[in-house]
Amino acid sequence: MKKVYLDNAATTKMADEVVKAMNPYFSDKFGNASCLHSFGQEARDAVENARKIIADKINAEPEEIIFTSGGSESNNLAIKGIAYELKGRGNHIITSKFEHPAVLNVSKELEKQGFKISYLNVSRDGFIDLEQLKQSITKQTILVSLMHANNEIGTVQDIEKIGRICKEQNVLFHTDAVQSFAKVGIDVKKANLSLASFSAHKLHGPKGIGALYVKKGITIKKQIHGGSQEFNQRAGTENVSGIVGFAKAVELMKEKDIEKMNTLRDYFIEELLKFDGTSLNGSKENRLCNNISVSFKNVEGESVLLALDDKGIAVSTSSACTSAKLEPSHVLKAIGLKPEDSHGTIRFTLSKYTSKDDVDYTLNSLKYVIKKLRGISPE
Ligand SMILES: Cc1ncc(COP(=O)(O)O)c(C=O)c1O
Repeated sequence: MKKVYLDNAATTKMADEVVKAMNPYFSDKFGNASCLHSFGQEARDAVENARKIIADKINAEPEEIIFTSGGSESNNLAIKGIAYELKGRGNHIITSKFEHPAVLNVSKELEKQGFKISYLNVSRDGFIDLEQLKQSITKQTILVSLMHANNEIGTVQDIEKIGRICKEQNVLFHTDAVQSFAKVGIDVKKANLSLASFSAHKLHGPKGIGALYVKKGITIKKQIHGGSQEFNQRAGTENVSGIVGFAKAVELMKEKDIEKMNTLRDYFIEELLKFDGTSLNGSKENRLCNNISVSFKNVEGESVLLALDDKGIAVSTSSACTSAKLEPSHVLKAIGLKPEDSHGTIRFTLSKYTSKDDVDYTLNSLKYVIKKLRGISPE
């Protein structure tokens, strides 16, 4: 049976070149990057080379990149790291209603500890209300944490505008750039970023490796205590193979891949909107090159997912049902989708390996699946 993987926002296939680049670091080049002998120095060189590649991609300095275990750890380190460091100066943090759980649950945890968190509204087309941001900043505000690209509906925020507001108000700015990294250009200086989170497994790199950008001069309270690795900001023997794979994945992401995904995404959206009772979630403009989030009227997203899976196609319900209680996704709720439309939402996410044939096969399968499910739907 044909297999089509359209859940690349969840994770991606590792590129063959990434596997090849990593392999020696599991065998011959197994050294600990903190050791002074040649085995250690070989590993150190690989780590520092990777650090430079990642720094260059975002116009940062290598010393501003801290390797972590992934996006979740980077978000935790950024937000808790600033909250605990600056709690003497203020206790207010601004974020939004549609952040990833790795930001929202950190915020909830900090609320329990006495921090005040403001959750900004999101417009129907998936953008943060910048006027509300301006009005929410107070003398107590120590951090603004707003995601670059949303993982469910794919909208990309204007981080340069957000950065300007933060700079004017003298507030630190963190962005969760896990979904956008290497798909949307990021210049940490132009966006006045203080901190930014990245993860390798969303761009054909390995799982369990990520990075946090921390602007020079900004101090964060470390969250993992131990050795003095990563400029004494994150203890633990470096994941050398992961770091090498991460950098290789970044190097491999080319403009032509993004253009290919953009074209395929637009075609997919156009064809999907020809179906009866479908609507696109999130603006068509300023949208990730690989995200298509669509609500189908009068069908359950999970039934669509399972029926497509039977045809070899992997999609996501856009976390539409994140619990046994069938809670609508917090992202779809934040953009004001009705619960019944939320439940009929499917997220398709492309990769550079997705072909037009894959998309056509999915469209044909969907036509059949939706018709069949609507036939048995009560309405
Ligand atoms: C926007 C966003 N932030 C953070 C994360 C967490 O990243 P990781 O899986 O590397 O911990 C994800 C992954 O789903 C994400 O999409």
